[in-house]
Amino acid sequence: MTTRITIRKPDDWHLHVRDGEMLKAVLPYTAKNFARAILMPNLIPPVRTTADCSAYRERVLAALPPGSKFKPLMTCYLTDDTDPDDVERGFRDGVFTGVKLYPANATTNSAAGVTDYKKVMRVLERMEKIDMPFLMHGEDTDPDVDIFDREKAFIDRHLSKWIKQFPKLRFILEHLSSKDGADFVKSAAPQVAGTITPYHMMLTRNDWFGHGLKPYMYVMPVIKTARDRTALRKAATSGEACYFLGTDSAPHPYSRKVSTNGVPGMFNAPVALETYTQVFEEEGALDKLEAFASLNGPKHYRMPVNEETITLERTPWTAPEEVKVAGPDERALVYRGGETIAWKVVG
Ligand code: DOR
Ligand code: ZN
Repeated sequence: MTTRITIRKPDDWHLHVRDGEMLKAVLPYTAKNFARAILMPNLIPPVRTTADCSAYRERVLAALPPGSKFKPLMTCYLTDDTDPDDVERGFRDGVFTGVKLYPANATTNSAAGVTDYKKVMRVLERMEKIDMPFLMHGEDTDPDVDIFDREKAFIDRHLSKWIKQFPKLRFILEHLSSKDGADFVKSAAPQVAGTITPYHMMLTRNDWFGHGLKPYMYVMPVIKTARDRTALRKAATSGEACYFLGTDSAPHPYSRKVSTNGVPGMFNAPVALETYTQVFEEEGALDKLEAFASLNGPKHYRMPVNEETITLERTPWTAPEEVKVAGPDERALVYRGGETIAWKVVG
């Protein structure tokens, strides 16, 4: 049995670190294990322009532990009014790594998202021209679509058309949650790639509300069936270049998660890399972990791979139940908090 594994330092291609005291509390967990991370722009107010983004990047850098070499990669929150010239300027100046689509009201802080795709076609055209990646929360928010079918509906109604309309645009279907999503990405690779979270590979909807309701497992896209989970595990551990790591770690104050109208998002940064490693071990695919965590993402984003390495050992430890946050937020629940975690980062 393998008890120790060393891989190139990974990157997290989908991450929420928020702002203010929450940012300070959660960022060190990612900066410790990941060299870079794509930071989501769904703040209140959202990160909509190059100016918003430069200011947010400064706040992120200021929240890093002293001496950290972690590099935040920033994204532009797409709205009906996004200016293609500002997007291009931000990309050329190295401020934006990509543009992020939130369909309006699809998830947390997406009220300012896109209401009518016709309005953003000019932005997509420009991105195709300048070779700028397009990151998508790929869910159709039509109220007639069942919440478990939203990913498939988005692919069928929109993405399958866009890949033909913009043949040179590079797409990332984020937080794949279904067999349909995983299959589509493979069929449309290398133009389309997909990120996979640790929890969509660990949990099913039975875990979420089959034996008591677990509010912390409420995420968007929602956790689906065992069949979907199996497909995602096979996809991630296949080593195929179209699948890569994106934790979607998304902390919220405890009171907003555990509420009669709770918000979606699961804070998993403290256990993310260890959980991925467990999944790859369970699938007999530890030899593919480096491709998923450290090679496939940079390839799709056309960035160099990291030169540093990270080592994990099979040494059990207990995950913290929560992380303290200064001020009124007080604390954020941690995914797998209190559980024994099999793998530990040791160097
Ligand atoms: O569960 C989610 N939480 N999904 C998202 O798409 C957004 C995220 C958040 O910002 O909390
Ligand atoms: Zn997210």
